[in-house]
Parts: sequence; structure tokens; C-alpha cells
Amino acid sequence: MAPKADPYENLQYGMDQIHTAIRTAHGQILKVARERDEAELRRDLAAWLGYVGAWVELLGHHHDIEEKAIFPRLKDKGCFVENEIEQHQAIHRHIDAMEAALAEWRADPSTYSSARLVSLFEAIDKDLFEHLDDEVQKLLNPSNLRAHINAQDITYIYTTAKKEADSIGNPAVDLPFLAIHTPPGEHKNFLGLPLFIRYTLLPFWYWQRSHIWKFAPYSLL
Ligand SMILES: [Fe+2]
Ligand SMILES: [Fe+2]
Repeated sequence: MAPKADPYENLQYGMDQIHTAIRTAHGQILKVARERDEAELRRDLAAWLGYVGAWVELLGHHHDIEEKAIFPRLKDKGCFVENEIEQHQAIHRHIDAMEAALAEWRADPSTYSSARLVSLFEAIDKDLFEHLDDEVQKLLNPSNLRAHINAQDITYIYTTAKKEADSIGNPAVDLPFLAIHTPPGEHKNFLGLPLFIRYTLLPFWYWQRSHIWKFAPYSLL
């Protein structure tokens, strides 16, 4: 689906694309951890934890971008963002626990446990999925936004969030990660990326870490 001409719908659509990729990747990590032999994952641990760690980092970046570029602006215009801020705080506690486990497994691969990874990913799902739905369906619902914010301000929020994604996030990891958790049919206008990034940088960034992307459900093409 192409980006929307209406800025309100486009902001909601861009958020939904990112959230869909986050959900798809969460499901894929659980599937691999449950179905793949633990000894096999331990033998390829740097790549496997690289893949899992990319999800954890991406989610942290996504929330940091929202807290800096989206929520304050919406709040200034009278939108109620406290619900989403509280949800972020709950999710951050899960992220901290995941980061601690990843650090421990990287320091001593013999401590890696697929069962523990599964329990960490199962523990986050209710808080996370409810939040992802609320943000798209309630907070960024175009009819709610239209009541508070003009189209120019919505475009400003969208542009600022994209800029922050380059400085707060790590596009060389975040963008390939989002792309390979998005069905190939949706890649053509992926996140409204400029052509140079879409067709030159993205394949290069993908290639740089292709060993960790082998766990993903889709290819870049
Ligand atoms: Fe979001
Ligand atoms: Fe969020």
C-alpha cells in the first residue's frame, strides 16, 4: 500500500507499518526460539542474539523517537498522551530485562536459554500489543487528531519524527530490520524512503549484517 496523501492518515499509516513489523518480528523470534534446537542456536549465538538484539534496540529507538518528536507536540495541542507514556514505562521494564539477559548470554554463551528468552518475549506481549493498538487506533486516529491539530502541524510532526529516527535510531540496523519484517509486496514505497536510501543504502546495510537477518521471515527483495 502506498503512503497516503492525507497527512493525518499518512502519520497513522507510517506508525502502523512500523508496529506491524515489530509484531511480526516478535512472533518470529518466539517461533525460532520455540522450534529451533537450542544447541544449534547456541552454536550460532552471535548471529541469533544479533537478530534478537536488533528487535530490542529498534523498539527502544521507536519509543525514544515518539517521546521526543511526537508525544510532546501532541500534548501541546491538547491530545491525551498520558496513557501511551505509562504504557512505554511498562514496556521499558521488559526491555531492561531483555537487555540484561542478552548481555549475560553474550558474556557467557553457555548460560543461553531458549526457555528464558521465550518467557521474556511472552511476558512483554500483552503490554506491548495493547500499546501498539492504542497508539494507532486511538492516539493517531485521524478523526481525533483533526479535532486538535491542523494539517501543517501533523506534517511537521511526521517530518521531525523521521529526522529523529536518523539521530536517535540506527538506520543501518533499524531500516533493514523493518523491511524484512514487512511483506515484500509492501516494499515498493517502504516508509516513504527516498529512492537513494531505498535502493542503494538499504541493500548495503542489509548486506553488512546479512548473517543476522537469516532468521527473519522475509527477504529484502
Ligand atoms: Fe509507535
Ligand atoms: Fe509507542
